[in-house]
Amino acid sequence: MTAPFYITTPIYYVNARPHLGHAYTTVAADVARRFHSMHTDKTWFLTGTDEHGDKIVRAAQKEGCSPRAYVDNISKIFQDLWPELNISNDAFIRTTDPAHIAVVEKILQQIYDSGDIYFSEYEGLYCFGCERFYMERELVDGCCPDHQAPPETIKEANYFFKLGKYQDWLIQHIETHPDFIRPTRYKNEVLAFLREPLEDLCISRPKSRLKWGITLPFDPDYVTYVWFDALLNYISALGFPDRDLYQTYWPVAQHIVAKDILKPHGIYWPIMLKAAGLPLYQHLNVHGYWNVEENKMSKTVGNVIDPLEMKNIYGTDAFRFFLMRDMTFGLDSNFSETALIQRINADLANDLGNLFSRVISMAIKYFDGVIPEAAPDIEEEMDLGLKKNAETAIFAYNQAMESFAFHKGLIAVWEFITHMNKYVDITAPWVLAKSPSSKKQLEAVIRHLLEGLRIISGLIYPVMPDTAITMQKHLGMSGTDDFFKMNRLTVWKGLRSGDKLRKAISLFPRVEKTKPHADEAEASGSEKAPALAFKPEITLDDFLKVDLRVGTVISAQPVPKAKKLLQLEVDMGERRTIVSGIAEHYTPESLVGKQVILVANLKPAKLMGVLSKGMLIAATDETGVTVATLDRTVPPGTPLR
Ligand code: ME8
Ligand code: MG
Repeated sequence: MTAPFYITTPIYYVNARPHLGHAYTTVAADVARRFHSMHTDKTWFLTGTDEHGDKIVRAAQKEGCSPRAYVDNISKIFQDLWPELNISNDAFIRTTDPAHIAVVEKILQQIYDSGDIYFSEYEGLYCFGCERFYMERELVDGCCPDHQAPPETIKEANYFFKLGKYQDWLIQHIETHPDFIRPTRYKNEVLAFLREPLEDLCISRPKSRLKWGITLPFDPDYVTYVWFDALLNYISALGFPDRDLYQTYWPVAQHIVAKDILKPHGIYWPIMLKAAGLPLYQHLNVHGYWNVEENKMSKTVGNVIDPLEMKNIYGTDAFRFFLMRDMTFGLDSNFSETALIQRINADLANDLGNLFSRVISMAIKYFDGVIPEAAPDIEEEMDLGLKKNAETAIFAYNQAMESFAFHKGLIAVWEFITHMNKYVDITAPWVLAKSPSSKKQLEAVIRHLLEGLRIISGLIYPVMPDTAITMQKHLGMSGTDDFFKMNRLTVWKGLRSGDKLRKAISLFPRVEKTKPHADEAEASGSEKAPALAFKPEITLDDFLKVDLRVGTVISAQPVPKAKKLLQLEVDMGERRTIVSGIAEHYTPESLVGKQVILVANLKPAKLMGVLSKGMLIAATDETGVTVATLDRTVPPGTPLR
């Protein structure tokens, strides 16, 4: 494990804001990177944004801005999010970077010259959401499995990449490198796909249809298919072909992706590399989906969880811990705030937090906060298997973390934490403290416990770096990264006798009151809010009495002394003031420019002293409130019926 380590996330599309799924992959990559940094000084971590293609152009149009302004804006939102989640990426690549574009051109030209790209007419089923052609057999009930919409038939002359030529070679590579794609279920999925003949890949789009892309170096009338462009980020970001980074890290490259993009990473990408005469990546690590109430969470479905909001409510480390602990890498998981709160209270506040504050408090009480020396003869006697337990945990942890089984790594750490808690109960330091003749035993017990805490701080470091550093500081260490090197961490005597501890603190306060969103679920006695009974039938005339209008939010501000209320100025043909109870779910800035739906003829009402002339329509579920909007921009004041 001392070899260099290079990890990448997918580069995310900038057609929407980051959500929990993006946060999960990026935190997982960060955890892998920090874990490897405990074993080697040479690690590199790449993330970024994927900025070309139809999807982006359409998203920009919807927002009424140019693709360039649009991608700059959303890419920045991703770049700003990662520090909030303590993501330690070394580089952030954008596919609009000139250096990336130069690499794409270079590789395209090379593959074209070698004869693996050819020109041909093609008619096929195209999904605009996925930006790719589908084969009939890949469709589910005639629809794209991802977008649940039928693809469109389109006919075009285009450039094709000879995937088929490399099919047998790829099957062989996967079979002779069993952990090339892991976990195994995804390797099998790729192999199953490769049992059918592989069609060549259309790698161009005519400029008559799409201009926002990298122009093919051998035909100015076409731009590059977004996947052929995007996958190359993994080498362009390393300064391919000349920079040292590329030489050092490409040979050890590992990717993390979710199963949605298994095919481009498991099939197109290795074949692209092979065709360009480049070495392949080492491992493709594939995880499942975070679902919300059993549905895949996605921008398209619109049931997204905002990672920043979770971080703000529960704290970065607790949120990272939950993500890593609750998902079995490779399988799908269901997200719920109730489960998150349970994890915080049980694993973090109780098991780890209590242990930490209990041990430090005892050391302060019995030894005035000075780390005691364990006398050599007594040390062994008072060990009671604790060191062996630590070794077992470290071994299991290293194995699990190495193969991306983060949940298993954490389970191993928590087994050790359980042993530590038992050790406190068995040795009962408060009893030893009563008799002066047990002073040496007490010293040994407290010293063992402090060493155990130091090891725990190191093992949690990849997942909860801030907590790890806090723990080390309170253990009288400097809290620098050096202490997290595995060879330094795992020696039992890592603390210095005589060093001073800092006072005990609560690492993770219990989440006593359920959080705002969880409240509603709790009150109803189950995780899901109950289905509301439908209201009595009305006639069309009844319905048409309600004047629903589209309004554009011009400005928004909090209503003084009203935690839940925002005052909006809305253009709905005329200018109106609307008060809405969404302040806990939307920042004023995020609403400006949004088109919302309003009941225009509701009798005006005063709310906290502000006269509201109309009502905003929104949906509430256990995750919170989401404001109803339209699919595209329409003139303010447009009626709905
Ligand atoms: O596919 N659960 O970008 P993308 C878990 N630009 N992870 C999820 C998730 C969910 N519900 N939803 C998204 C693209 N993800 C391309 C990639 S790479 C050369 C180009 C995460 O914005 C997961 O990592 O659609 C998934 O693979 C990725 O976001 C897709 O991000
Ligand atoms: Mg996607």
